[in-house]
Amino acid sequence: MMLSFAALCLAIPAATNAFATSGATASGSSFALFSTLEAPKREAPGAGYVPEWENRPGLSEEEFMKSDMSKPDLSGMWECPLTKWDSDNIDIKQAQKEAAQAPNCPLEVRASDSDNQMGAEYFAKNKDKLREDLLKHGAIWFRGFDLMKGVAGHREMYEALELQPCLDPLHSSGLRKFSSERDALYEEVNKPSLRGHYIGLHSESTTKRTAAYAAFVCFQKATEGGGRFLVADGAAILAELDTKLLEKLYERKIRISVSNLDIPPSLPGFVKEGVKGLVDAAVAPKFDMDLEMMYEMDGKPGRLQAVEIAESPINRHPVTGLPVWFNNAHNHARKLRDRRPCGVPEVGMTEVFYADTMDTLSLEDCQEIKRASEKHITALAMEPGDVLLVDNYRALHGRDVFQGDRYHAVSWFTWDDNEEWRGDERRMVEKNGLNKAMNSMMDWLPKDFESNQS
Ligand SMILES: [Fe+2]
Repeated sequence: MMLSFAALCLAIPAATNAFATSGATASGSSFALFSTLEAPKREAPGAGYVPEWENRPGLSEEEFMKSDMSKPDLSGMWECPLTKWDSDNIDIKQAQKEAAQAPNCPLEVRASDSDNQMGAEYFAKNKDKLREDLLKHGAIWFRGFDLMKGVAGHREMYEALELQPCLDPLHSSGLRKFSSERDALYEEVNKPSLRGHYIGLHSESTTKRTAAYAAFVCFQKATEGGGRFLVADGAAILAELDTKLLEKLYERKIRISVSNLDIPPSLPGFVKEGVKGLVDAAVAPKFDMDLEMMYEMDGKPGRLQAVEIAESPINRHPVTGLPVWFNNAHNHARKLRDRRPCGVPEVGMTEVFYADTMDTLSLEDCQEIKRASEKHITALAMEPGDVLLVDNYRALHGRDVFQGDRYHAVSWFTWDDNEEWRGDERRMVEKNGLNKAMNSMMDWLPKDFESNQS
């Protein structure tokens, strides 16, 4: 999970922003130190399976954005449920053996002519089998279904499967934009300014909140190429990873820094502490994450980082009990981001730490995470109407760079059969007002300052 503190910076007093701006000159010596480091070479990440494009036609934007106004407005949906952690007493070798037996992810389901004639009825009729397959395989790639070529049909599909929509885990930050709020549909990262930015593997998850399932839909694929949607099995990655590395990471645990605010290191300590307290008290709560504000964890003088609490890199699936790699390091590790296409400014750059010492992950460990993760990536060729249904505790997702224009969207879902798993929060009215205000600010912000929702 990644978010930017750009909105956060806007929300803190002007004096603090002035500190950050003046840091460019006040901390000249430390910047010089950083600039003397040779930048690593950037290379396109790999994938294990790259299916062919089929060039199936879509609808015009006017057509695919149509909502069925006879259906109720879903904007009062559930909050994203709290993360279900079940990560104590895991025997790593045994967990790897178990994970290696998991069925292939994703399952591919291609529409026949008669399936397409059935429309939403296909999903209603096959609901039990499809829900079972989702748990078994971790993801289902629906290919060639006419129904989901537009917003209204996408909703018909997930309603037929009886999936219950919820908010994005970072909804309260205001950084996530709806595609069609009344249909519980968010926009993915389609912005031209972020098309050159590779989004690494992650679950839609913070240590605090995790969506149970997701349905990623393509209405328009990238007009000039690229934009493959990435999916990888957390069980397969767990089975693949070097056992010694897993044992180390499991024992030491992981912490993720989600944003940087650079303060001139020459400022007196009490001023820096004041800035830290201000950000911590006034702005961080809006992100609804368990964050700790920490100075200079990545070695950069004056850098204030917002760091999530320690978490296990391995979790047992809440329903099946299957042990899986449940960690966003492939997306967030700085050493990996610096070696692939990445268009995020420093304020939005992330980092991954060993939780016990707060050292950043070594290059060697990052490279092993990269190798094991990318070997199991399927780089989907999603065409208009294609949907990837994802079990968000089992499979990780991401997005390759693209050229031209693209329109993908996503709905998040909560648990359907256990009241206590949902958490008890419906959407809060005051948050809604705040989100709208922040989203309108985001419209005129430089578009690089955005969240990272593939
Ligand atoms: Fe995402």
